[in-house]
Amino acid sequence: MLATHTAANDGIERSYLTPEHARTNWTVGEWMAEAGLIPWQDAAGNQRGTYAGQTADAPVLLLGSHLDTVPGAGRYDGILGTLMAIAVVGRLAARGERLPFAIDVLGFADEEGTRFGRTLLGSCAVAGTWDESWWGLRDVQGVTLRDAFVAFGLDPARVGEAALDPRDVVGYLEAHIEQGPLLQDADKALGVVSGIMGARRFELTMVGEAGHAGGVPYGRRRDALLGAAEVAVAVEALARDAGAVGTVGRMQAYPGAQNVIPGRAEFSLDLRAETDALRDRVWLDIEEKALKSAAERRLDFLVDEKHQAKATVVGARLAAAVEAGIRTTGDDAPLTLLSKAGHDAMAIADLCDYAMLFIRCKDGISHHKDEDVRADDVALALDAFEAAVLEARKRHGLTGAH
Ligand code: GLV
Ligand code: MN
Ligand code: MN
Repeated sequence: MLATHTAANDGIERSYLTPEHARTNWTVGEWMAEAGLIPWQDAAGNQRGTYAGQTADAPVLLLGSHLDTVPGAGRYDGILGTLMAIAVVGRLAARGERLPFAIDVLGFADEEGTRFGRTLLGSCAVAGTWDESWWGLRDVQGVTLRDAFVAFGLDPARVGEAALDPRDVVGYLEAHIEQGPLLQDADKALGVVSGIMGARRFELTMVGEAGHAGGVPYGRRRDALLGAAEVAVAVEALARDAGAVGTVGRMQAYPGAQNVIPGRAEFSLDLRAETDALRDRVWLDIEEKALKSAAERRLDFLVDEKHQAKATVVGARLAAAVEAGIRTTGDDAPLTLLSKAGHDAMAIADLCDYAMLFIRCKDGISHHKDEDVRADDVALALDAFEAAVLEARKRHGLTGAH
């Protein structure tokens, strides 16, 4: 059993350091062992599997994706890429083929940030960029990351042991569903990623004054929800006009009663763009608009930035290996796409070069229970991913460093 189902929309939810996380690691570990990998869980709760290279001191090629999900998730985001990595190693193992590098398959434990708001925790641990300030992050129940770590059976003092040394790493390859419609629109099963948009995530709050929904005249109201709603509408316009993407995914009014003017409104903002400069410029525009709305409505506007990930570009030689892999499946002109979704590769980019293979998903639907892929596309993707790994062997000599 790899999932619990959320009451809200009956999708899947597996979040960091939960019983579902533990069960998933266990099951994926069994699949790794069946494929010929040596399974183990690292000091940050990532599920890993090692396939030795031709020599004991061979460097390591990383393959994988994440095992956690958003709430109400579908069946493919993240886990498909991890299973594909296992399957590719399974093919090598079945042939008894060893490469000049070892392979470390990674099932990252927290890419989505569902539980603690800060994303990419698992891959940051592997990249050696874990930040000690994260221990105080709390989930909605108030449980700190530190306490959840201990309850899961992990030792906060040892999280550094999950990190790899860049000198030992050849690179990182990740397969993932596209989470957008471009491959489908181009009538292609597979694509090669050029880079990943930079993202920032905020918890924003408007503070006004609660009051009687009938008695308080409009001129005296300090309605926090209306201020937040104005910002949410402005986010769409400002981001769209600038060529960025902004989403208010959650909004909560307090005290949350039908006959009470909202005295407080909390809302999230997810902001992405191809370059960090563009993303940051749009944030300044949004902030200016929010301050203006707050002033007009006599509200206070509070900003809590939860997450920031810089835009990254793929390593040219690894991306060429992925492109060559796609060509082996009969596509002579692979489509190149910029990823608007975040991926573990963004964090791993601090450790080594990365490249990604995208797989067509139905109507671009993702972060939704109706996420879907075609079995024949996945079959092609497996062939392409295996070919990319073998191509990386030809190009062995790639360094881990940028
Ligand atoms: C991860 O799926 C993201 O939010 O981009
Ligand atoms: Mn996702
Ligand atoms: Mn994902």
